[in-house]
Amino acid sequence: MSNLEFIYKRHSVRRFKEDAVPVEDIKKMIEAATYAPSGKNVQNWHFVVITNKEKIEQIAKIIERKNAELADALKNEAMKKSFTKFLRFSTVFRNAPVLVLVYTETSYKPTGLDVLKEIGASTEEIHNLSKTNPAIQNIGAAMENLMLAAANMGYGTCWMTSSNYAAKEIEAFIGLDKENYFLAAMTPIGVPSGELKSPPRKSVEEVLTIIE
Ligand SMILES: Cc1cc2nc3c(=O)[nH]c(=O)nc-3n(C[C@H](O)[C@H](O)[C@H](O)COP(=O)(O)O)c2cc1C
Repeated sequence: MSNLEFIYKRHSVRRFKEDAVPVEDIKKMIEAATYAPSGKNVQNWHFVVITNKEKIEQIAKIIERKNAELADALKNEAMKKSFTKFLRFSTVFRNAPVLVLVYTETSYKPTGLDVLKEIGASTEEIHNLSKTNPAIQNIGAAMENLMLAAANMGYGTCWMTSSNYAAKEIEAFIGLDKENYFLAAMTPIGVPSGELKSPPRKSVEEVLTIIE
C-alpha cells in the first residue's frame, strides 16, 4: 500500500531555529500550495511572504496592540480574560525567519446559492449552504499542501487564524493593494526547534460512519 509517512511528519511548530529559509525553498512550498484543488479551479489565493525579522516582529506587535484595544473595549470581564489569555498563540510566528500571510478572494460562492435565493428558499437552507464556503475550503487545501511540503523539506509550520482580527491593521502595515482579497490564515516557516509532537486524535471509529 502507499506510504503515508509524509502525512504524519507534519506537526504544528511554534519554536524555530535562527536558520534562514532559502527563497528557492519558499517558492517550492508556495508552488506546492498552488497545486491544491480549488472549486472550478478558481485558485483564489494570494501568498504574501515576509522574510524581514523586524517586520515579522512588528506584525506580532500589531496583533498585541489590537488584542489590547479590543480587550479594553470589553465590559465583560470573563470574555476579556479568555480573549487575552491565549494571545501568545496569535503571535507564535514571532521568532520564525519567514511568515506567510494567505489572502483569499471570495467571489466564488457555493453552486446553487443564487438558485436557492431566486426561488425564495428558507433562510436556514440558504445559510447552511453559505456555511460550506468553497472559497475558504480552497484556502484550506492550499494551506495543507504548503504545510505537507514544508514538513517534507524539513521545515516547521503552524496554521494560524487566531490573529485574523488584526487583518485590517496588518494589511495597512504591509501595504498590500489587492482589491476583494482578505486575510484568511497565516503560517510561520522555519527549521523547528525542540521536539515535534501533536495532540492526540479522535479514534477513526469515533469520526467514521460507513454506509454499505
Ligand atoms: C484553521 C486552523 C487555525 C489554527 N490557528 C492556530 C493559531 O492561531 N495559533 C496556534 O498556535 N495554532 C493554531 N492552529 C494549530 C492547531 O492548534 C493544531 O493544528 C492542532 O492543535 C493539532 O496539532 P497538530 O497541527 O500538531 O497536528 C490552527 C489550526 C487550524 C487548522
